[in-house]
Amino acid sequence: MENSLNCSIVPAVASDADDISSMSARLIEEGLPRSWTAWRVGKYIRNKNSVVLTARIDNVLVGFAIMHFKDHEAHLNLLAVEPGYRRTGIGRSLLCWLEESAVVAGIFLISLEVRADNNDALEFYADLGYRETGLIPRYYDDRFDAALLARDLSVGGVAGDSIFR
Ligand SMILES: CC(C)(COP(=O)(O)OP(=O)(O)OC[C@H]1O[C@@H](n2cnc3c(N)ncnc32)[C@H](O)[C@@H]1OP(=O)(O)O)[C@@H](O)C(=O)NCCC(=O)NCCS
Repeated sequence: MENSLNCSIVPAVASDADDISSMSARLIEEGLPRSWTAWRVGKYIRNKNSVVLTARIDNVLVGFAIMHFKDHEAHLNLLAVEPGYRRTGIGRSLLCWLEESAVVAGIFLISLEVRADNNDALEFYADLGYRETGLIPRYYDDRFDAALLARDLSVGGVAGDSIFR
């Protein structure tokens, strides 16, 4: 998928694991013990019940997302876009791609956790139709609370159209 930004959204391959892990450490796990090692990301890339997506501009990684599919629910593990490319629709397009995959698999419930103090992400998910369903105190490193979010795709469809088609 491409648009005028020349951004392609494509499934990750094994050789992307290092870059995705570094990006997660820098953009998502900042200040926390690193849990998404390259080995763990590689496991998700290989797992047939997971989808790991990359967003690339001129073949440079500018975003990624990881979703794991269970029987009746899909869990969004990670989603990040490089700061210089935010608010251009890349995050929405990654999520839209994953939501469409869930619907094709007959799964309509998407869940995720996000740091309760991550206002940018909370605004993003709220805009895309996600609702807070709970709070887990001290979920991250026994220090930071997690907000639980969910979206029922049977109500209102997927998160708008990807702009990268
Ligand atoms: C959250 C994140 C993935 C959003 O990615 P993005 O590519 O900037 O999002 P989009 O451009 O697709 O935004 C879609 C809509 O979400 C909302 N939105 C996104 N970022 C927002 C912000 N910082 N403040 C308010 N609304 C925001 C807007 O309504 C936006 O539409 P608009 O730009 O037309 O107003 C990005 O900010 C990020 O990587 N953050 C750091 C990592 C992170 O916190 N990940 C989530 C936890 S795993």
